[in-house]
Amino acid sequence: MHKDCKEILFTHDQIVKRCEDIGTQISEEYKGKNVILVGLLKGSIPFFAELAQHISLDVEFDFMAVSSYEGTESTGNVLVKKDISNDITGKDIIIVEDILDTGKTLHTVRAMLLEKGAASVEIATLLNKQERRLYPIQAKYVGFEIPNAFVIGYGMDYNENYRNLPYVGVLKEEVYS
Ligand code: XMP
Ligand code: MG
Repeated sequence: MHKDCKEILFTHDQIVKRCEDIGTQISEEYKGKNVILVGLLKGSIPFFAELAQHISLDVEFDFMAVSSYEGTESTGNVLVKKDISNDITGKDIIIVEDILDTGKTLHTVRAMLLEKGAASVEIATLLNKQERRLYPIQAKYVGFEIPNAFVIGYGMDYNENYRNLPYVGVLKEEVYS
C-alpha cells in the first residue's frame, strides 16, 4: 500500500468484478442502441478502460475535460476545457466518471450533452458519495457507495498524484492538512 494511503476501500479485484457486473448490465439494457461512452478526463480513465472491456456492444469512445469553479449562480459554473469530438445527435450517451460528489459537474455536463441532441444521457460512476449531493442528479450505474472521505487511486488524485494506484484508498489526513 502507498505510504500516503490510510486504508484500502476497494481492491483491484473488487473493482474489476464490479466493472464486469455493470458491463453486463449495460450490454443487456442498451441492446440494439448506438452507445457512446463519454469519459471525463482525467479521473475516469482506469474505470473507463476496465468497464468498456466488459460491454459486449459496439460502442464509441469520446472524452471531455471540465473543471468546476465557484460562481454566484446556484446552478454552479462548469468550464469545458476539452469538448467531445463525435456527433452525438440521436445517440445514447453514458457518461463515465470517477466519483459523484455534490453532483454539480455531472448535472451540468448531462444538460450540455442533451442540449447537443443526445437521445439519452445516463451516468456510470465508480464511486458515489450520496450524502454530499446538492444537485438533482442520480447515476444509473454505481460501482460502490462511499462515505464522505477523501479518496485516491484508480484515477483519483490529490494534487495530480496517486491516479495510478490500482486500488481505491483513503488519503491520510496529514497529507492535506
Ligand atoms: P461534484 O461535486 O461536481 O464533484 O460532483 C465531482 C468531482 O470532484 C472530485 N472529487 C474527488 N476527487 N477524491 C478525488 O480525488 C475525492 O474524494 C473526491 N471527491 C470529489 C472529482 O474530481 C469529481 O470528478
Ligand atoms: Mg473528476
